[in-house]
Formats: sequence, structure tokens, C-alpha cells
Amino acid sequence: MSARIIDGKKIAAGIREEVREQILRLHEETGRVPGLAAVLVGEDPASATYVRTKTRACQEVGIASRGITPPGDIAQSELLQIIHELNLDPAIHGILVQLPLPKHLHERVVLEAVDTRKDVDGFTFANVGRLVEGQPLFVPCTPAGILELLDREGVAIKGKHAVVVGRSEIVGKPVAFLLLHRHATVTICHSRTSDLTAETRRADILVAAVGRPRLITGDMIKPGAVVVDVGINRVDGKLVGDVDFESAVQVASAITPVPGGVGPMTVAMLLRNTLRALEQSIRDS
Ligand code: GUN
Repeated sequence: MSARIIDGKKIAAGIREEVREQILRLHEETGRVPGLAAVLVGEDPASATYVRTKTRACQEVGIASRGITPPGDIAQSELLQIIHELNLDPAIHGILVQLPLPKHLHERVVLEAVDTRKDVDGFTFANVGRLVEGQPLFVPCTPAGILELLDREGVAIKGKHAVVVGRSEIVGKPVAFLLLHRHATVTICHSRTSDLTAETRRADILVAAVGRPRLITGDMIKPGAVVVDVGINRVDGKLVGDVDFESAVQVASAITPVPGGVGPMTVAMLLRNTLRALEQSIRDS
């Protein structure tokens, strides 16, 4: 048996169209358009590609995007000043600081400088706390995209055993909490998990987010499980996930491909969060 391939690209395109229509309507009603500032420090090529993808997607749906590209050796105080000015800028509703930052910058200090109400990545302590509490303001884009994919594919979550492989702040931890809030029983695995296969084989929903190419093979998957592959690894010039697709597709009931699975959903959720930031600022004014 071969798994259903979850078409993240198509689902994300649908969400982008929904966001575009909502932005159009909001503009007709209020004359306002959402604005996103994307801060890219330095010249990491992968980060530059991600930011370009995000700003292009903004243009397509009617979000005014502003790229800010300080040099890689910018002093932390200067970067904090840039963020401070964006916090005060009424045309900017969302601020994205692309990670990772150059080593000399303190990531947490920089992220905390972003106004919680403009933190469309959901990375500030306040937004993380709200998510853990079950009262989210902005949910980090990749975890939000994963839940959206599961919902739009009609995957039941309540009462299911979800296993998350990876405990990053950006994906593993937040997606685990989102699944928990939806009444899944959640196991989080990581590099020190003693018997990873025993854990992953129990998963009805398996989320792989470790950044290790093809770590999860078909024999580690329970027959009929739904497999979500968050990995984006470059191997011999080719993009591969954390899941060995060829063997996994024989065992799972549904699986996200790489590319074309979770990745496009991350961008779609950023657009949606930015629209929500504008809506929230209109409500607050
Ligand atoms: N680096 C890797 N993923 C992300 C993300 O979702 N947002 C930001 N800002 N940086 C990232």
C-alpha cells in the first residue's frame, strides 16, 4: 500500500488566496494594508532565499513588505535600534527577524526587542507563554502550518498518540503543545532518546523535525500513521527531509513530501499572522 501524499503546496496556495481576499476586503473597508518588515542580518544564502520567498509571497497577497538587510557585523545596539523604530512604525504590523543570527548577536535579546503585538513569528517569551497556556496570540509559522495541514486533510488528532522527533524552540516544542491542546497524547523525542524506534512506532501522528536527513525510515513507522516531515536538508545538492520518503510511503497512510509539504505552509502562516496583526491593531486603536 502506498500513502496519500499531502500536497502542502496546493493547500498553502488555497490559504494564500484566502488571505489575499481578506486583505482586499479589509483594504476596501478601512483603507489599510498589512506591512511586514523582514530583517535579514548578514548574507547567509539559505536565509536570504527564505526571506526572498517570504517577501515575494507578501507581494502576491497585498502585504507591503520591507526588507531590512544590515551587515553581518552590525553592533547589537544598532540592531536593537532598528527593531525599536519598526516597533513604533505605524505602517509595520509584523516584524520578522530571520534566524539564525550571526554569532556575536544574542538571539534572545534581539527577539525580545520585538513588540509582542508585531511578533508574527511568535518567538517572544510572551507569545511562547501564551501558546503554552493555550491562549495564543501569534503561533510560530511552521507549527501552525502543520496543524493547518492536518486539519485540512481531515486527520483526527483528539485521543491520538502524536510523537514529535526534535525539541527545537521553533518547531518541536510549539508543535507538541499545539497537539496537546488538541487532546493528542504527545511524546517528544530527541538526540538522547534511548530507543527512538520504539517511540516512533507508537505514533499515530509522527512529526519529524530534527534536521537529520532520512533519519526516520519505514520500519520506524506504525502502519497507517500520518507522517509530517519538517526537515529541509541539502544532500548532494538535493533537498531531502528527515524522513526516508521511499520506505515511509509504503507504510504510512498519509505523508508530506519534501519539498512541497510543510515548507509552503510556513510561508502561508506568516502571511496570515501578518494580516491578523493588522486586524488586531485596528481593534486596539
Ligand atoms: N529560521 C528558520 N525558520 C525560521 C522561521 O520560521 N522564522 C524565522 N524568523 N527564522 C527562521
